[in-house]
Amino acid sequence: MKLDDLPRLSLGFLPTPIDDLPTLGAELGISLSVKRDDFTGFGGGGNKVRKLEFLMADAVEKGVQVVITTGGHQSNHARMTAAAARKFGMEPILVLRGNRPDAWQGNLLLDHLLGAKIDFLDPDAYFEQVNPLMQQRADEAEAEGKKAYVIPLGGASALGAMGYVNAIKELAEQYTAMGRKAPDYIVAPLGSGGTLAGITVGCSIWWPETKVMGISVTGTAVPFDQRISAMANDAAELLELDRRFDASDLLIQDDYVGPGYSIPSDAGNAAIKRAARSEGVLLDPVYTGKAMAGIIGSVENGTIAKGSDVLFVHCGGTPALFPFSGQLTTDLES
Ligand SMILES: Cc1ncc(COP(=O)(O)O)c(C=O)c1O
Repeated sequence: MKLDDLPRLSLGFLPTPIDDLPTLGAELGISLSVKRDDFTGFGGGGNKVRKLEFLMADAVEKGVQVVITTGGHQSNHARMTAAAARKFGMEPILVLRGNRPDAWQGNLLLDHLLGAKIDFLDPDAYFEQVNPLMQQRADEAEAEGKKAYVIPLGGASALGAMGYVNAIKELAEQYTAMGRKAPDYIVAPLGSGGTLAGITVGCSIWWPETKVMGISVTGTAVPFDQRISAMANDAAELLELDRRFDASDLLIQDDYVGPGYSIPSDAGNAAIKRAARSEGVLLDPVYTGKAMAGIIGSVENGTIAKGSDVLFVHCGGTPALFPFSGQLTTDLES
């Protein structure tokens, strides 16, 4: 099926703007721009709004009443899914990795305001229990006569990836209208992988010369290049494209995770302050700060050549700045 023929509900304020970062770019010796997907707007904004346009269209078409998904304590995906469920008159249920908090901060606060029912899973038990618990919640809803829809972690599926196939179409149209040639690199944070899978498929259609780079912010059992090429292949199949991808098509940087998923890193925190103080752009400690650290590190170690034209996809995440204020203000003490 063609991208434009897939059911899609409008959620985001699209197209999002493209901003140049001339000061930071000049310091690094590259031409640096940013796709402001932190401004997708709906439900506090971020990359998942694009995925949810396709996933929620599917849910609405199926007559769903309860939407269930999962993520970390500070999951932007869970927050945006809860908002989307509410917009379409559905009940959100979130299964979050982490114990019941003392302070409801950042995305957790927003989840509560959106009236999501939340199950907290101890981090050590999470991977074993998350899928059975989401299925249990779906079964309970069905037993009450309510149709349930489970969205996987991060909305990472072929259908969710369509959001970023569509984003590349949008970007290619914007660049053409501005008279700009396609960038040498497009760089995005990499969590569950749906964003990068969509970008990979989209670039193969509209920007075939552009290199796609993912900066991972988490560990993974199945290597990212395998996982994302498989998801990109499912997405290509959904679009009835004959192209296929393998692990060697993906450029993934694994050196910027730091101590672990959702644990701020020194390099990520430094990148947050550098972007804020050179350009007034706000990043977050879980995803986009680490991704910016990856761009800075990749230029410094020569992976991205000086003089390259680099487009960074700002995927949002600003609500997660606030719960990490302690780690981001250690420099105040010295
Ligand atoms: C702000 C932000 N950036 C990046 C990502 C990673 O996107 P993906 O899970 O599609 O790899 C997420 C995922 O939740 C996110 O919230």
